[in-house]
Amino acid sequence: MLSVTAAIRQRISVRKFLSTPVSESQVHELLDTARWSPSGGNLQPWRVIAVAGAALAAVIEVAHAELARSADGVPREQGADLVYPPKLWEPYRSRRFQVGEDMYALMGVARDDRTGRLAHVARNFEFFGAPVGLFFVIDKRMGRAQWAHLGMFMQTLALAAVDMGLGTCMQEFWGTIRDSLHSHFALTESDLIYCGMSLGYADPTAPVNRLRSARAPVEDFATLRGF
Ligand SMILES: Cc1cc2nc3c(=O)[nH]c(=O)nc-3n(C[C@H](O)[C@H](O)[C@H](O)COP(=O)(O)O)c2cc1C
Repeated sequence: MLSVTAAIRQRISVRKFLSTPVSESQVHELLDTARWSPSGGNLQPWRVIAVAGAALAAVIEVAHAELARSADGVPREQGADLVYPPKLWEPYRSRRFQVGEDMYALMGVARDDRTGRLAHVARNFEFFGAPVGLFFVIDKRMGRAQWAHLGMFMQTLALAAVDMGLGTCMQEFWGTIRDSLHSHFALTESDLIYCGMSLGYADPTAPVNRLRSARAPVEDFATLRGF
C-alpha cells in the first residue's frame, strides 16, 4: 500500500490507457474507499455512474453523434461557465496555456496543427481508451460548498486508484454534452452531470503520459503566520 503522500505525488492525468479490463469489484472497492471523503454536514452530495463494456460503448456513441452534428469536430459548449471563468486572467491564463503547450509538444502535435489538436480533444470522448468511465452527478440545487465536496470525493477516488495501480483523468470535457448524457442516462430534472473520469491502466509507452504538469511553489499561494 502506498503512503497517501506518495499517491498524491504519483497521481497524474493519464491520457492513454491499455485495454486491460478493470473489474466491477475494483470499481466497487474504489467507490467504497471514496465514500469516506469528507463533506460539510456529511451531506455526501455525490452520485456516480460507472460504465464499462457495452454501457461504455453506448456513451461513446452518444458523444460521437454529438461530434458528427458539430461543424468543426468540437461540440457546442454547454455550461462552459462550469469549467473556466470567462476571460481568464493571470496567472491562470498562462498556466492553462502552458499545460496545453507541454502536452501537445510531448505528443508531437504542432501549435498550428488544429486537426491534430482537435483529434486529441475528441479522444476525451473515448475516455482515452480506458475500459471504465465514471460520471459525477450533483443535484443542481446544491451550492458551491457541495461542489467543493464533490471535488474532494473525486480526488479521493483518484488517489485510491493510484494505490490500486490504476490511472485516471478527470474530464470536464464531458460536460460539453451534458444535455445528451442527461437524456441518455434518463436522469431527473434536478440532476447535473458535472464531470467524467477515465479509469484504467496507464499505457506506459505513451508520450502523453510523460506529462508532469508544473505547480506554483508554496510561497506563491500560501501565507504562513505566527510560526
Ligand atoms: C475537475 C477536472 C476536470 C478536468 N477535465 C479534463 C478534461 O476534460 N480533459 C483533460 O484532458 N484533462 C482534464 N483535466 C486534467 C487537468 O488538465 C490536469 O489535472 C492538470 O493539467 C494538472 O495535471 P495533472 O492532473 O497531471 O497533475 C481535468 C482536471 C480536473 C481536476
